[in-house]
Amino acid sequence: MQVVGIESASGRSSIFIGERLNNLPNHLPPGRAIVITDDNLLRLYRAELPSLPVLSIGCGESVKTLETVKSLYETLVDLEADRSTFLIGIGGGVVCDVAGFVASTFMRGLRFGFVATTLLAQVDASVGGKNGVNLGGFKNLVGSFNQPEFVLCDLRLLDSLPEGEVANGMAEIVKHALIADAGMFAFLEERAEEALALDPATIEKLVGRSIAIKAGVVGRDEREAGERRILNFGHTFGHALEKVGRWSHGEAVSVGMVLAAGLSVKMGRLPEAAYQRMTALLRRLRLPVAAAADPKQVLEALRRDKKREAAVIHFVLLDDIGRASVKEVEIRELERQLVEFPEILRQESRP
Ligand code: GLY
Repeated sequence: MQVVGIESASGRSSIFIGERLNNLPNHLPPGRAIVITDDNLLRLYRAELPSLPVLSIGCGESVKTLETVKSLYETLVDLEADRSTFLIGIGGGVVCDVAGFVASTFMRGLRFGFVATTLLAQVDASVGGKNGVNLGGFKNLVGSFNQPEFVLCDLRLLDSLPEGEVANGMAEIVKHALIADAGMFAFLEERAEEALALDPATIEKLVGRSIAIKAGVVGRDEREAGERRILNFGHTFGHALEKVGRWSHGEAVSVGMVLAAGLSVKMGRLPEAAYQRMTALLRRLRLPVAAAADPKQVLEALRRDKKREAAVIHFVLLDDIGRASVKEVEIRELERQLVEFPEILRQESRP
């Protein structure tokens, strides 16, 4: 089993890749513990949970709200949780975000850990210490930086994921390779079919490398004052696409990466051949490289998303496979470039 550590101002986190859900008790401190999870996990894996109180938050992005947080606080009061109670979030990104935020704020902070059960949670959402909920149409507007003491990534649980959930995680895996590791990108090219089939050895290597890349970046810049911004590669356009369309996070990030890489080619930073390698791999991983979206709506969503920033945003450009940099780019410039990519963002035909 590979173990990756993060040392940061908000604490130390150990991420165990390949650890089993049923070994969770071995990672808990002595004393009281309470599980926060979702309905899907309960349906599939209730029998594997330790005998602890279990709170379920429902399912999906729509429950990532302050109302859910309030209801969890109230249940914790009913259960007489106190400062010594340990919270465990078991689930995907939504459970980790909500459980981490509740743990960080209830009675000014409880100790907590996660069992990440989806590919997206394992390679991204459970790692990094950002916790929080959505508010008023804005993603993660309310939250905290606080590292879980441990994250267990039980790779066996991935077998029950629907295809769309695999795509969500796969897009983040490709992102990590693109921004930081040309060797990992070449491995993905060699093993794309095995990765899609969740071949255990292939997936263990990809999850381990993804986490090591993210942990390294977070350890150097937990609060996203600089380097951590590179983890947003593909997400500026990706979040805008998620807002205007019916694309999943992975699909939107995939098209967002193509747009950002296309822009990097136009700016003379990224060789065209690298762009072609990237789109070829995304296609093999059954991720989209184009979206039928109205560019005007995408731009409007992007502008709204960035409303608290100036006309200039930090935008992640690709310099080569395995190397990215963050540049200040005017939103107007992004707009200009976006409409010049009709092959990526096609005007949706109106009825
Ligand atoms: N918890 C996700 C992150 O910190 O990026």
